[in-house]
Amino acid sequence: ASEAEERDLIVIGGGVAGYVAAIKAGQAGLKVSCIEKRATLGGTCLNVGCIPSKSLLNNTHLYHQILHDTKNRGIVVDGVHMDIAQLMKAKETSVSGLTKGIEFLFKKNNVEWVKGTGAFADEHTVDVNLVEGGERSLRGKNIIVATGSEATPFPGLTIDEEKVITSTGAIALKEVPKKMVVIGGGIIGLEMGSVWSRLGAEVTVVEYLGQIGGPGMDAEVAKATQKLLAKQGMKFKLNTKVTSGDDSSASVKINVEAAKGGKEETLDADVVLVAIGRRPYTAGLGFENIGLEVDERGRLIIDQEYRTKIPHIRVIGDCTFGPMLAHKAEEEAVAAVEYITKGYGHVNYNAIPSVMYTHPEVAWVGQNEQELQKEGVKYKVGTFPFSANSRAKTNLDTEGFVKFLSDAETDRILGVHIVGPNAGEMIAEGTLALEYGASCEDVARTSHAHPTLSEAFKEAAMATYDKAIHF
Ligand code: FAD
Ligand code: NAI
Repeated sequence: ASEAEERDLIVIGGGVAGYVAAIKAGQAGLKVSCIEKRATLGGTCLNVGCIPSKSLLNNTHLYHQILHDTKNRGIVVDGVHMDIAQLMKAKETSVSGLTKGIEFLFKKNNVEWVKGTGAFADEHTVDVNLVEGGERSLRGKNIIVATGSEATPFPGLTIDEEKVITSTGAIALKEVPKKMVVIGGGIIGLEMGSVWSRLGAEVTVVEYLGQIGGPGMDAEVAKATQKLLAKQGMKFKLNTKVTSGDDSSASVKINVEAAKGGKEETLDADVVLVAIGRRPYTAGLGFENIGLEVDERGRLIIDQEYRTKIPHIRVIGDCTFGPMLAHKAEEEAVAAVEYITKGYGHVNYNAIPSVMYTHPEVAWVGQNEQELQKEGVKYKVGTFPFSANSRAKTNLDTEGFVKFLSDAETDRILGVHIVGPNAGEMIAEGTLALEYGASCEDVARTSHAHPTLSEAFKEAAMATYDKAIHF
């Protein structure tokens, strides 16, 4: 490469972590370049993650509702069928609108997008292998690494994204499989399993642990959610481990046995979705060239200010510690740039919400009962079912409940867990309350509009220290 071009900040990766950091730095007047090798900005989340999956979840939910939940509402529809090609087109329209939007924001905030793969040449220099061919060399006063994550493969199964798929294949299938086996009953397994189950696939979820939902989901919520998803047609094999698979013929064979040893069984599937978690992606970054280290799970090691042991190199988002969530990546991006421009930044890791966008949605923030029990914290529980909420009743959408966990002595909110309609929007109120150190009584004495689903939220808070009114 020719002589290096000077930058105040180089960001490697144009996903949520990287693009937000680049925009924030541009706004602060830094000379910033963001290196992204994909043809569009936005990373996993916009291209193959949050956005396309939510498009499919929303539209297949509508379809499922039209098929199964219209007669009692007085709506008569005939001849309903799904046009998969158009479903995918609608998804692509949402994705491309948003990825182009990031490109626009880059221009607006003077961020240069360098299209290519970045690798450390030395502690200040990043060489870029350009997509259009050739190389460029950038020299940064500061560097932020935001290279994201990738699906963890399952040993013995070859991912072809058609027969054996990750979430990337699951958002792009051309036809509905007859039988789908999902390995892993976490968020991806349940969201993508829901999509294809609604479209008519016979979906079986195999989960190693005794509950679905992946890390963090409250056990009572997980159990209720499993029941609701089973009612919609999904099948579950919990406490079951996949021992091996065979993808050498037209259908895939998946061998499973009870997690604690014992009963073996072979499941047959047209399509197998591998959804056993994601791992940091740092291939080709050349972090070893400058002596940066990863932990046993491949996460780049940083301190509380996101600094590696080379202090002007920071790491944020999925390729380092913490939950692999877009909004967590976004918070870190803002904080990391503030550490550079102002010397201080802030992310409250105790108040990062989680949402699973099935129907009903599942959402939570703070600690769950199992975590509190493990820590020996004395807590109170307040719950309120949507079946006693007026708006849920008028909407004929009454499954689920809100559950508050509060400190037994001080009434401070420790966790909020919701399974029910609109849980993903409602959890924002719980997150705000937690962030501000609110008590349950603070929430319950706040007026909530009638008739809204959020009255269930208020009454669950009330139920921790007093009796709920409508239940
Ligand atoms: P990424 O989005 O992975 O971005 C990293 C980018 O860096 C990529 O574009 C990659 O091409 C680029 N890159 C890597 N190495 C280099 C290099 N050397 N040079 C140049 N470019 C490089 N989270 C939520 O909060 N809500 C959701 O609803 C949600 N749904 C999801 C659904 C699915 C199916 C999946 C897979 C994930 C979902 N997530 C969701 C998680 C979310 O996508 C991630 O947490 C988020 O994308 C992390 O952002 P990031 O910037 O750290 O990494
Ligand atoms: P996950 O960690 O949520 O769940 C993986 C599940 O697979 C766990 O329950 C685990 O016990 C199980 N498992 C692991 N190995 C297994 C095996 N051999 N056999 C059977 N089960 C096994 O991971 P997932 O679903 O792949 O998602 C990855 C990440 O992507 C999530 O943790 C989340 O951070 C992010 N994501 C977020 C979404 C959202 O916010 N709505 C949507 C989709 C993904």
